[in-house]
Amino acid sequence: MDAFFAANLSQGAYRLLVDLVYQHSRIRVGSDKQPMLANRLRRRLRELHLTSFDEYCARLQSADGAEEIEHLVDLISTNHTRFFREPEHFTALSERILPEWTSRLLADRSPLRIWSAAASSGEEPYTLALTVADFARAFPTLDWQIEATDISQRVLQRARAGIYPLEAVESMPPEQLKRHFQRGVGTREGTVRVKAELRDRVRFQRVNLFQPEYPVPPEQHVIFCRNVMIYFDLPSRATVVHKLSRHLAPGGYLVIGHSENLLGIPHRLEPLRHGIYRVS
Ligand SMILES: C[S@@+](CC[C@H](N)C(=O)[O-])C[C@H]1O[C@@H](n2cnc3c(N)ncnc32)[C@H](O)[C@@H]1O
Repeated sequence: MDAFFAANLSQGAYRLLVDLVYQHSRIRVGSDKQPMLANRLRRRLRELHLTSFDEYCARLQSADGAEEIEHLVDLISTNHTRFFREPEHFTALSERILPEWTSRLLADRSPLRIWSAAASSGEEPYTLALTVADFARAFPTLDWQIEATDISQRVLQRARAGIYPLEAVESMPPEQLKRHFQRGVGTREGTVRVKAELRDRVRFQRVNLFQPEYPVPPEQHVIFCRNVMIYFDLPSRATVVHKLSRHLAPGGYLVIGHSENLLGIPHRLEPLRHGIYRVS
């Protein structure tokens, strides 16, 4: 049998990998994920010309292990996302949050700042961008900027390109689609690309939610941090909520995923609906 396929992930090696992932990203990998991880790692072992998980563990603990830990976290984490995921949040944005901020920001000549803090491959920040762009058609002097961050360089690379299969955007109204996307031709047939005007409004950066300082402008008016805290334990969730709250403008909004909550986390946010919280 091929040595790569024969490689076995021992309990000890698995525990080490789980600990390294936790130290780096605070993602808690359950004990039931051992076969999944072994499967996903076999391909990585082959790419690195390694024949055992022990060699792989040694690589992770070596001087250039930090870069490999990023690969490991990438193999484990779920990057699933889509345009207009949990659509109530975008409805609330255009019907309540944007109208509330706009008059104040126009009067102060200040830009609107929105941050997608676990942006994955870009569908969430681009949905934010096109929602704001459509709203701002009635307010041409409104300036705005979207920050989009994620721990994974791999997904950020896809996000920056802004190219998606046509099916990913098919349920959008045709005018909206035409306004914000270009259809691919030739070898790009069957794909769409977010138009440059919209891409230019979104700044992508690698940010680990647990790094000491965020390289994102303070006083954000809205922060989306959706479907990532679900992978963290309670103390880590509390850390993230605390750090993100400090990055919000007074009266700013924190939006979390439908399957997430702030139970057991001390905070000073006023709960509204559908996982939307406001700095009180
Ligand atoms: C399931 S996706 C959620 C995408 C989007 N927010 C949504 O709701 O559709 C979770 C993302 O969180 C990122 N992530 C995991 N741990 C992270 C951390 N410690 N800091 C920043 N991003 C992290 C993953 O790389 C992944 O892209």
